Amino acid sequence: MAKAKIFADRNMTAGKIDPNIYASFLEHLGRAVYEGIYEPGHPAADKDGFRRDVIELIRELNVPLVRYPGGNFVSGYDWKDGIGKKSERRARLDLAWTSVESNEFGTDEFMKWCRLTGIQPMMAVNMGTGTPKDALELFEYCNHPSGTYFSDLRRKNGAKDPYGVKYWCIGNEMDGEWQICGLDADAYGKKALQTARMLRWADAKKADEEGAVKLVVCGSCHADMPTYPEWDRIVLEHTYDEVDYLSMHRYYEYRPAERNALENFLYSADDMSDFIETVKATIRYVRTKKRSKRNVYISFDEWNIWTTAAERTAPDWIRAPHLLEDVYTFRDMLVFGGLLNTLLNHCDIVKIACLAQLVNVIAPIMTEKGGAALRQTTFYPFRYAANFGRGETMRSITECGTFSSKRGEVRMLNEAVTHDAEKRQVCVFVCNYGQETADVDLELRSFGDLTCREFVSMENNDLGAFNTFADPERVKPVEHEPVAMRSGRAAVRLAPMSWNFLRFEY
Ligand code: AHR
Repeated sequence: MAKAKIFADRNMTAGKIDPNIYASFLEHLGRAVYEGIYEPGHPAADKDGFRRDVIELIRELNVPLVRYPGGNFVSGYDWKDGIGKKSERRARLDLAWTSVESNEFGTDEFMKWCRLTGIQPMMAVNMGTGTPKDALELFEYCNHPSGTYFSDLRRKNGAKDPYGVKYWCIGNEMDGEWQICGLDADAYGKKALQTARMLRWADAKKADEEGAVKLVVCGSCHADMPTYPEWDRIVLEHTYDEVDYLSMHRYYEYRPAERNALENFLYSADDMSDFIETVKATIRYVRTKKRSKRNVYISFDEWNIWTTAAERTAPDWIRAPHLLEDVYTFRDMLVFGGLLNTLLNHCDIVKIACLAQLVNVIAPIMTEKGGAALRQTTFYPFRYAANFGRGETMRSITECGTFSSKRGEVRMLNEAVTHDAEKRQVCVFVCNYGQETADVDLELRSFGDLTCREFVSMENNDLGAFNTFADPERVKPVEHEPVAMRSGRAAVRLAPMSWNFLRFEY
């Protein structure tokens, strides 16, 4: 039995949680769109072909914002192929995922889906084969009311009112050599600045002005890139005055063949923390160098666990191939819970985070063609965080043991404590990464008279356990008796290798 302590004080805040920290991502990749959110003819599909069973699960996840249409896909995508009469749309090669894009689903369908689900769109523009002019034309199509070629084209295509898209990503992973027409930092920085200026002019609002659109510029696509963090500095030096967010991407992988594979994998949340701290410092550096008063935040617009086991390229040029259909284990869920805690603990700088992705492709939701929709193991920590991790994150202090991994020391407990003053609610999200039960002295005295309303955990003797369509509830949360509070303290027992959620009210 390991002894540990978690302490949080209501005056020690780490920052305000932007609800967009619970955003997600849908790319034209594999079966994310086709057979994922869109499947005409499916028994649960509505008249537009949107799967209502999938929408219900997305609603459970309380996702506020979805990035679209890529990803690597966007760097070869001509958005004009995806509008107008469906029968006249052209199928095109998608070089990013060696697939065929039918273009049956495009901007108008995505906007319709967003309206239906109440989700805000976050549009990515093509900075690979695309030009600033293409980006401007998409902007005009989406956001200009009427009286110009592209705004009137949108109206002709059935959308009288502009879509009012607020969030725009200027390209995707432009530092990657796999990116269609990727660029070096200097070239991308210049192109991104020109694009940002054109979008600002079209918006007729300056950066930071009330109601102005929000622009995201590409940061390093992961921390192992040889150009990281110089890429981030150079791109920001070009664009700092015009953009609102710098993007970050990071995927973690379980490598069973490695020595101490589990320990290394459990280090992921600490690694993510380190990555965020470095990018935050880079933003600070450029802000100071430019003598700027404005803030640029982080849009962590791709994060998840991604193992190499699932197919990454389609064997043939086909439509909607089975790609990146990772099956998430209980072990993945434990690391995933830790990554969510890291994002919460850095909510002062991370204002958008997109779980990549939402359906079928490295996703918490899987679907069968013509069949059911399934919650993967990672669905649950996300659901609890997105529904209850609101308000602000507290600066928690934890005393616990550590263990070693190839990359650094890992803390046995990985936690985030949130406080929602409006709801008079305190939530504790905590992973026990230790092999022993942890007896935790949880001290929340400064919040006053707290009552525990919920104690939920995910525990499993088999770290490799996962959900399937035949056994969809093999891994899911279990409810416990709420813990007793005595003078603002509770003794909480956490099972070995478990994810836990406690909710208190005052
Ligand atoms: O999310 C899958 C892919 O990962 C995205 O297309 C790309 O941006 C990243 O490399």
